[in-house]
Amino acid sequence: MKAIAYQEFGTTAVLQTVEQTKPTIKADQVLVRVKAFSINPMDWKIRKGEMTLMSGSKFPKLTGADFAGIIEEIGTSVIGIKKGDEVFGVVKNMMKEGASAEYVAITSSLVWKKPANISFAQAASIPVVGTAAVTALEKMGNIGSQTNILVNGATGGFGMFLLQLLKQRGAQVTAVASTKGAEFAKKWGANSVIDYTKEDVLSQKATYDIVIDLSGKMGYKTAKQVMKPKARFLNPTPKPIEIPISFFSNLFTSKKHIIVLSSPSTKYTDVLLSAVKNGLQIEVNKVFPFAQYKEAYDYAEQGGYIGKVVVEIN
Ligand SMILES: NC(=O)c1ccc[n+]([C@@H]2O[C@H](COP(=O)([O-])OP(=O)(O)OC[C@H]3O[C@@H](n4cnc5c(N)ncnc54)[C@H](OP(=O)(O)O)[C@@H]3O)[C@@H](O)[C@H]2O)c1
Repeated sequence: MKAIAYQEFGTTAVLQTVEQTKPTIKADQVLVRVKAFSINPMDWKIRKGEMTLMSGSKFPKLTGADFAGIIEEIGTSVIGIKKGDEVFGVVKNMMKEGASAEYVAITSSLVWKKPANISFAQAASIPVVGTAAVTALEKMGNIGSQTNILVNGATGGFGMFLLQLLKQRGAQVTAVASTKGAEFAKKWGANSVIDYTKEDVLSQKATYDIVIDLSGKMGYKTAKQVMKPKARFLNPTPKPIEIPISFFSNLFTSKKHIIVLSSPSTKYTDVLLSAVKNGLQIEVNKVFPFAQYKEAYDYAEQGGYIGKVVVEIN
């Protein structure tokens, strides 16, 4: 089978199409014929050697975490899924495994039935950023119509899920997005939008109960300027050193620095599937054919698009 792998850290130039043997499954696994996998910023951060503490430096490495496809085989102890079912899922260890291949062998607990009203490309967009959005919601604590939330970097994959989940909870959301993102941010539930290409969120007078930075560019120190005295800053892109530092500094400051690290499971996917049933929209900005996966990764890394970028395999 075809798969994407790399033998050294670097740009998309290191990505190669390789021939691998089709995986065999264990009793608790299923074999999925992959129809689509989505691209996440984590893919290039790992590929560029920016996450070696977690990814290690052993090669070859595969890439891509979340996928959608059709069940081809089921393990002897698997229940609830059968051959031919349309599913979506995520690899168990996102730092060391990859879904960018024609077939993926995966534990059945990380595969869920695809709703009939969404495409494979949309389903492959759910697990990583959807789980991160639900995890962020958990870290926000009790939120309601009086909670003012700033979502910085609101129209990528993570923001797309988060804005719509926040709307379902009735929070007052200010989204920071590019000019073309504004329309989507409003459609997904933001009460107001700040265009970061024209205005500086820090120069506004408003302060917030919760600030979450999805751009990776704001940081806790900067965010403090727009946080209310007892506000929370949610950080899904922490530098390793920030994890212990935030823990200790939170003991002494009322403005909390909260690290968001997510891990997909049925608990989170159930929330997401219910939201999809209730109308949550999944915007896939562009779908690339497998032969153009390098272009897909370059396009995604460059930014400037709304929602998700997906690669399809025929
Ligand atoms: N901790 C976890 O468990 C976890 C899980 C999933 C994702 N993440 C991380 O969360 C981050 C967001 O994920 P994602 O998939 O949504 O990434 P993404 O699709 O690349 O979205 C990032 C967003 O930030 C915006 N942005 C860029 N520069 C900005 C600026 N100066 N001010 C405001 N917004 C700006 C981008 O808008 P334009 O493209 O229009 O410029 C884009 O909409 C990534 O760093 C990802 O690695 C963490």
